[in-house]
Amino acid sequence: MAPAARSEPIKACHVVAVPYPGRGHVNPMMNLCKLLASSKPDLLITVVLTEEWLGLIGGEEMPPGIRFATIPNVLPSELERAADMPSFVGATQTKMGEPFEQLMGRLAEPIHFIIADTFLFWAIEFGNRRNIPVASLWPMPASVFSLFYHLDLLERNGDHPFDVSERGEERIDYIEGIESIRLIDIPSIAYMKDQRLITLVRRIFINLTKAQYLLISSIYELESRVMEALNLEFSFPIYTFGPAIPYLNLEKVTTLSSNQSLSDDQLIYFDWLNSQPPSSVLYVSLGSFLSVSAEQMDEIGDGLRASGVRFLWVARGEAERLQQRCGEAAGRVVPWCDQLKVLCHPSIGGFWTHGGWNSTMECIFSGKPMICFPIILDQTTIRKHVVEDWKIGVDSKKYLAPGEILRSGKITELVKRFMDADSSERREMVGRAREFRQIIRQAVSEGGSSMTNLASLLNHIVHSACDSS
Ligand code: UDX
Repeated sequence: MAPAARSEPIKACHVVAVPYPGRGHVNPMMNLCKLLASSKPDLLITVVLTEEWLGLIGGEEMPPGIRFATIPNVLPSELERAADMPSFVGATQTKMGEPFEQLMGRLAEPIHFIIADTFLFWAIEFGNRRNIPVASLWPMPASVFSLFYHLDLLERNGDHPFDVSERGEERIDYIEGIESIRLIDIPSIAYMKDQRLITLVRRIFINLTKAQYLLISSIYELESRVMEALNLEFSFPIYTFGPAIPYLNLEKVTTLSSNQSLSDDQLIYFDWLNSQPPSSVLYVSLGSFLSVSAEQMDEIGDGLRASGVRFLWVARGEAERLQQRCGEAAGRVVPWCDQLKVLCHPSIGGFWTHGGWNSTMECIFSGKPMICFPIILDQTTIRKHVVEDWKIGVDSKKYLAPGEILRSGKITELVKRFMDADSSERREMVGRAREFRQIIRQAVSEGGSSMTNLASLLNHIVHSACDSS
C-alpha cells in the first residue's frame, strides 16, 4: 500500500524509516521518528510497516510529519514469531526487501535518507544502489552490537562456539571496550545448540560498513568505553540517541488524578495502583513476545502470591488464568499495560523483567531497581550490565542451571528480600537506580549527549536533501 495522498504542501526532506517487525524494534524506531518529526516540522517521514504492524500501531497519535506505508507480512502471523524465531528472522531477510523496493518505486516524493533496522541489512544495499544515505538502527545496547560483531574474534581465541554448562563462568576480556564478561553473559543465541539464529544474525553485519551512519538506542554515558572502541573501529559516525522510549508522552498521564485520557482497561489498573502505598508494588513483565513454559509462569504466580508483595503482572494471553490462580487479593494480572507510565507510577517499587533493552531503558528512566530474569538474545548481556556493572538490580537466575525452572520458594524469598524497604541492599540499589535515572534524563535534556546526537543526525538529513536537489 502506498501512503494516502496528502493535501499538505510537499515537505523539503523526505526520510523513509523501516523497522524490523517486532515490538522491541518498532517502538524505538517510532520513538526516534517522533523525536525527529517534532524537532523539524518540515520533515516528511514515511514509516514502512508490515500490514500486521499497521493494524497494531496505525491508530496511535502521530506528529503531522509522519505517515505510514505498508508491505505484506513476512509470515502469516508475525505475532507468533517467538514460536519459530529462525524462520521469522530468516523471512525478514528474504521476503521484505523486494516489496520494500517496489513500494519505494511508487512513492511520489524523492527519498533523501533511509533509517533501517540493522536486522534489515538489505535496506543498505538498496540505499547504496540508489545513492541514498542509510542510517542503520541498532535497538539494543552497544555492547551487544560489539559482541555480535566480534564473534570471529571469539572463534579465533577458541571461545566460540562453547558449551555453556561447562564454560559459562569463564570470562573473556579481549574485546576492546567490553568489560570482563562471563561467557554465559554473552547474547545467549551465540551459545545455543541450534546455531540457526546466530548464523542469521551474523549475516546482518556483512554489509554494515556500507551504511553511512549507525544509530544505537543507548546512552553514551552508560556505555562510553564500548562507544569509544566502536568509534575507533568504524569510519562512519555512530550516534547513541537513547533512551528510545516514549518519554515525550509521559507528561500527559503522569498526573493520574486527571484520568480523562485513559482507556477503561488502563483506568482499572491505574485506579488500583493509585490505591497502593508508595513503592509497594512489584511490576512483572517478560516483554512483548517471548514466553516461558506454563509451568514456569505458575511458579512465578505461586511465588508472588506467597511473598505477600503486591504485584501488577503483564501476562498477555495467560492473564485471566493466572489472575484466577493468584486470586485478586495478591495483585493484578493484566494482558498488557502502558509500561513506561506504569513504571513511573509512585506505587511501583521495582520491576521483575526479562531484561529486553526497551524495558531496561524504561525502568532506568523511572529510577526503579530490577529483578533480572533473562530468557534469550541480548537479555543475558543486559542482566550483566544491570547486576554486575551498574548494580541496579539482582539476578533471579544466579544459581540456576541453563534451562532449569525457577521454583516458587526461591521466587518468594527473592521477591520479599528485593522489596523489603528496610533492607540495606535494597536501599543502596534504589539510591543507585536514582543516580542512573539522572544520567538517562540528562542525556535527553537540552545539551545532553542524545539530544546533541539527534541534532547532528538531523543536520545530516537536511544536508542529504540539499545535496540531492
Ligand atoms: C526484543 C528482545 O526480546 C529484546 O531483548 C531486545 O532488546 C529488543 O527486542 P522485547 O522482548 O519485546 O524485545 O522486549 P523489550 O525490548 O523490553 O520491548 C518491549 C516493549 O513492549 C517495551 O517498549 C515495553 O514498553 C512494551 N510493553 C511491554 C508495553 O508497552 N506494555 C506491556 O505490557 C509490555
